[in-house]
Formats: sequence, structure tokens, C-alpha cells
Amino acid sequence: MDEYVGMEFQDVLDRRRMVRGYTNDPIDPEALERIVVAGVRAPSAGFSQGQSFVVVTDPERRSRIAELAGEPTYLEAGFDPWISRAQALVVLCTSENRYRERYGEPDKTRHHDGTWPVPWWWVDAGAAMQNVLLAAVDEGLAAGFLGIQAIDGLADLLGIPDDVSPVGVITIGHPAPDRRSGSLDRGRRETVHWEQW
Ligand SMILES: Cc1cc2nc3c(=O)[nH]c(=O)nc-3n(C[C@H](O)[C@H](O)[C@H](O)COP(=O)(O)O)c2cc1C
Repeated sequence: MDEYVGMEFQDVLDRRRMVRGYTNDPIDPEALERIVVAGVRAPSAGFSQGQSFVVVTDPERRSRIAELAGEPTYLEAGFDPWISRAQALVVLCTSENRYRERYGEPDKTRHHDGTWPVPWWWVDAGAAMQNVLLAAVDEGLAAGFLGIQAIDGLADLLGIPDDVSPVGVITIGHPAPDRRSGSLDRGRRETVHWEQW
């Protein structure tokens, strides 16, 4: 196995994009482990650690997830079979219950009224997702994200408990030339405001 070297952080940021095309080359298991650990290391409100990760590498199970995710609709749109071909699928999950439990502990109830103007379990899932995406790039791999809205039956397939919500599937593999999403043609909006909106 190659020794882990990693990239300059700015290069990782510049290279990161959602990739929907992969080769069939296997992923170094140690690299995959580092990528998942990066997700685990993401921040969480109150250190609730409500995020969990189901790492799927078995080809049959990957195909089954691709089927549930409606991969043929991507093929019809001119994309590669990126879900089944990605050598690893990381199903990102979050648990609201875990936050409710954590914020019910004495050090939290002192200054928390048990309501969340912003649901931290979704916020923290986003942070975990980004850590995984960036760590994949850092390993010379590429990654994509598939929202859960289109994946009925995933929780049953993977035995995910009732109080844990799958958020989406992170696809990871060696990048192949892929088709850019049409969404990107819309260009970048001005979203930064200095000093005042
Ligand atoms: C929360 C979230 C859900 C997404 N869901 C999907 C999806 O279901 N299918 C897909 O092909 N891309 C999905 N994407 C990828 C976006 O389309 C992509 O991030 C966006 O077009 C910007 O492209 P870039 O990430 O390559 O810069 C999702 C991205 C995010 C952050």
C-alpha cells in the first residue's frame, strides 16, 4: 500500500466537486478507513455525535442501493452508473434522538430549553458529509452525494434503526471522466456580504 501523503488543503478545496463517474479500480481499505474517520471527526453540537455511517463495499449490496436510488434515471440523463460503480458507498445517517438525549443531560439543561430554532442534527450531518467529501479528494479519489429523498427502502436494506434517519449516500471511487451536472450551468451567485448585507 502507498504511504499516505495527502494534499495541500487549498488543492483539496479547489478539486472538490460532485463526481458522478468512477473507474472499477478498488479503493485502498486504509484510505477508506481514513475517509470515514474524517467524517467521524466532524464537529457536533454539544458533542452529541448523532451522526453514523454505514460503509458499503459489497458489489451486490451496492447494486441494490443503486437500484433503490433509481440509477437508470441517471443513465437516461446521460450519466454513468455512478452509484453501482463507486467502490464504496457511505450512507450518512443522523439521529434527532441522540441530540434530545444529549441536551437532556445536566450540563445542557441548565441553559437549553429543549427546543432548536435550527435542528443541529441536520447541520452536523452536513459537516460530516463535507469532511468525507474532502477526505476522499485528499486521498486522490473523488466523491459524490445522493440525497435520500429518492431512496425508499434503504433503511430496511441496511438494518438502520427506526430512530436513525438516513440523510444521503456518499459515493466514493477513483474518478473517471464524467458528465457535469446541468445545475452548474446556472453559474455562481453572489452570496458573500462584507460588513453588511
Ligand atoms: C444536500 C445535497 C443533496 C444533493 N443531492 C444530489 C442528488 O440527489 N443527486 C445528484 O446527482 N447530486 C446531488 N447533489 C450534488 C449537487 O447537485 C452539487 O453539489 C451541485 O450541483 C454543485 O456542484 P459541485 O458540488 O460539483 O460543486 C446534492 C448536493 C447536496 C449538498
